[in-house]
Amino acid sequence: MSTNSNFEQPTVVMGCQCALVSAGYLAIFAVAYRLLTSIWNIVGPYVLFSPIDLKKRAGAGWAVVTGATDGIGKAYAFELARRGFNVFLVSRTQSKLDETKKEILEKYQNIEIRTYSYDFTNAAVSGYQDLLAELNQVEIGVLINNVGLSYEYPEVLHKVDGGIERLANITTINTLPPTLLSAGILPQMVERKAGVIVNVGSSAGANQMTLWAVYSATKKYVSWLSGILRKEYESHGITIQTIAPMMVATKMSKVKKTSFFTPNGEQFVKSALNTIGNAADTTGYISHQLQLEVMDLIPEFIRDKILTNMSFGTRKAALRKREREAKSQ
Ligand SMILES: NC(=O)c1ccc[n+]([C@@H]2O[C@H](COP(=O)([O-])OP(=O)(O)OC[C@H]3O[C@@H](n4cnc5c(N)ncnc54)[C@H](OP(=O)(O)O)[C@@H]3O)[C@@H](O)[C@H]2O)c1
Repeated sequence: MSTNSNFEQPTVVMGCQCALVSAGYLAIFAVAYRLLTSIWNIVGPYVLFSPIDLKKRAGAGWAVVTGATDGIGKAYAFELARRGFNVFLVSRTQSKLDETKKEILEKYQNIEIRTYSYDFTNAAVSGYQDLLAELNQVEIGVLINNVGLSYEYPEVLHKVDGGIERLANITTINTLPPTLLSAGILPQMVERKAGVIVNVGSSAGANQMTLWAVYSATKKYVSWLSGILRKEYESHGITIQTIAPMMVATKMSKVKKTSFFTPNGEQFVKSALNTIGNAADTTGYISHQLQLEVMDLIPEFIRDKILTNMSFGTRKAALRKREREAKSQ
């Protein structure tokens, strides 16, 4: 008996040590893998890889851009025109569409521009059918699902500025266009076995953002939709990309001053377009990717606290500004 237990003890201790060492190596491997993935997500698409031949990948000469008369969408329209695509501008206000068309043609004469005015708060299927009938008259190689709507300022659900009408509009505008326009334009892309769809989400969809519930949730929808469509259509030769920006200086963000972390629409889009084919799901801009990767390394409960504090800070500043404006009137 005693001889047996003498042999068993070192075996058990050795077994324990072995398990601990293995767990240690696994932990080191997991941390190293996480860090390397983060570095790769920044360096790969934004430093190392050359832009793909977008025209070849698109397989057709027209690009459709929604929300094309301002901010990021307008910048996509200009940059695609610069790269030789004919552009179909879709947005709410016809006068702004006409103005954008004029501005693009003044700069790039060798392309064609068409416009279609559509208010994306209109969720009627018949409205989409009319729009798609117009769009499908041309050969579409690139579809940029960019149109989006956010809150006036962060707020808890039942107090959101604009009430349930605003919540309905955010939900409709952020989810229906990427869903229905993709469904309506994919048939011609599938037939040609080529095409590019870019769905503009937001980094707000990467976390459960307190005080941004509907915006954050709808942007999460965009990223899930894109991810699943990618699996469904990759084998058909179609590239589906999610672009999830951080802050870009546009009307929506209400930020006017650009900085290292806040590009303007043009700077942002020049970078984002170069990531097509090189990154399936990315922020679109190197400093945004850096921010996202650093945030992702922070444990979730701390990240959550930081983001919640930021939301409450933004809300406080917005309400103070409102108060000042009300007093000065
Ligand atoms: N800016 C940022 O910091 C940021 C960050 C993350 C994600 N994003 C996303 O990027 C996309 C573009 O944002 P942005 O900042 O460029 O926005 P923006 O400057 O506010 O421009 C919005 C564009 O969408 C059009 N639009 C708005 N409501 C519409 C409606 N009901 N029907 C049809 N068109 C409508 C506007 O046209 P009208 O002027 O005629 O209304 C305009 O052309 C959005 O999906 C947004 O969620 C932006």
